[in-house]
Amino acid sequence: MTSEAKNTLRHIAIIMDGNGRWATKKGLPRSAGHKKGAEAVKAVTRAAGELGIEYLTLYAFSTENWQRSPEEVNTLMDLLRDYLKSDLKEVQDNGVRIRFIGERDMLAPDIVENMKKLEAETAGNMKMTLCIALSYGSRHEIVNAARKIAMLAKRGDILPEDVDIKMFSDMLYTKDIPDPDLVIRSSGEQRVSNYLLWQIAYSELYFSPVLWPDFDKETLEAIIKDFNRRERRYGKA
Ligand code: IPE
Ligand code: IPE
Ligand code: MG
Repeated sequence: MTSEAKNTLRHIAIIMDGNGRWATKKGLPRSAGHKKGAEAVKAVTRAAGELGIEYLTLYAFSTENWQRSPEEVNTLMDLLRDYLKSDLKEVQDNGVRIRFIGERDMLAPDIVENMKKLEAETAGNMKMTLCIALSYGSRHEIVNAARKIAMLAKRGDILPEDVDIKMFSDMLYTKDIPDPDLVIRSSGEQRVSNYLLWQIAYSELYFSPVLWPDFDKETLEAIIKDFNRRERRYGKA
């Protein structure tokens, strides 16, 4: 493969980090950073569609983020309500299929109701899949999968030797979504923070110094260029 050859890039997963620092740097409350961050979500979703990305998975709120102050959690949940009601309308009208992954029972019922509605209404959309990780934690997801498999075995529906990579993958929230080709984390932190641990086994990682509220189409394009120069080996020589 020459250095100019393009890698397949079907799925980008993003850890949208740095809203708080963006706000603090400007002398604003953290909530202002989250607000601006929601704008970046819109811009980047649009850009991904324009760039022909088939799957975009966004880490919006982790299971660990529930430990933030009640005030910050409330701000984030209110922004989420607005996002579900208005921002996702545009996405929906653009032929995007919307999916949510995460621990729904920790979210407020009105939010879950809207999530279900959006998923149902967009199920037939083909242009792109936007997957939003909400109250998501990869270890929860993996443990839940293990429980489901244990239950099947206990009922005698499967044998231990039936458990394989495919079966395990099918028990995850991301069941019918291909693994990410590229994981991007904004704000300069170099960690995965309980994001898609199973699914990113062979993903390329990119850590961008840009704080999430400043992340835009140009940022994304530059990262894709870098990705295209990489050589993915999957363990082969
Ligand atoms: C990302 O920004 C948004 C969420 C995690 C919900 P942060 O709120 O983590 O911003 P920093 O990391 O404090 O700058
Ligand atoms: C990861 O960001 C979660 C999301 C972007 C939703 P955090 O800011 O919560 O991660 P840590 O705490 O720095 O690892
Ligand atoms: Mg953070």
